[in-house]
Amino acid sequence: MKSKKIIKESYNKCAWNYHRGLSRKFNIWHKYIEKPAIIIFLKGEVKGKKVLDLGCGSGVFSKKLLSFGAKKVKGIDLSEKLIEIAKKENPKVKFYVGDAQKTPFKNSEFDIVTSSLMVHYVKDLTRLFREISRILKKEGLFVFSMHHPIMEVSERLKINGKKSSKNIILKPYFHNKRYKFTIYTPEGGVKLIAYHHTFEGIFNSLNKAGFVVENLLEPTPPKRAENLNKKVYLRSNKRPSFLAIKARKK
Ligand SMILES: C[S@@+](CC[C@H](N)C(=O)[O-])C[C@H]1O[C@@H](n2cnc3c(N)ncnc32)[C@H](O)[C@@H]1O
Repeated sequence: MKSKKIIKESYNKCAWNYHRGLSRKFNIWHKYIEKPAIIIFLKGEVKGKKVLDLGCGSGVFSKKLLSFGAKKVKGIDLSEKLIEIAKKENPKVKFYVGDAQKTPFKNSEFDIVTSSLMVHYVKDLTRLFREISRILKKEGLFVFSMHHPIMEVSERLKINGKKSSKNIILKPYFHNKRYKFTIYTPEGGVKLIAYHHTFEGIFNSLNKAGFVVENLLEPTPPKRAENLNKKVYLRSNKRPSFLAIKARKK
């Protein structure tokens, strides 16, 4: 099966669980590690602007963009079920079902495009970033987060049948192949497929699509997240989980 179909079906299958999982206390990935990084990059930029939330899922971040004073927010995602939730919960945002690589939006329609944890699902980053550049105004902002290239090629070894955080192997790095992983919702795991990208590959694709990188973060969880999920807190303070980038269209 094609990876896009698998991704869409998996998110459709777990849509409500994924959505509810975002506000569970143990989920420090979104609330304390990844989202704060992109929020830093968006600080002072959003007020009065037209913003697109690309790969918006159930629209939780789209709602945040409105609360930051955006003039207009639109969201697009592959999963019809997540978009259904997004529409129900955010009547002020216009949501679309569609592929981030070929959107229905006009040339130069947005001042800002945000994309939280979607980019790693796409194999051809140059094609994706060119589409984003097309719908952004000149000097528009593209702020996104993705799985960290190192995290994707790190594997915890099983010792006596249990995965160990102390024994990690680094698998081959220089490739653009698919990898499988599981997202855990309170009601069970869902299998997903994404693509590995090297730092050089991400940077070159941004460059080819006409972006200049203004800032980059490898966010770690703050101390106050320690008691909410000790394992992830310790692991994410040793090795990066996510990468966040602020890029501007030339
Ligand atoms: C980890 S979720 C993040 C959702 C949302 N941004 C958030 O932070 O809650 C990744 C999302 O990317 C979407 N996605 C993956 N590939 C996509 C594509 N090619 N076009 C649009 N959405 C895509 C998935 O359907 C899923 O909703």
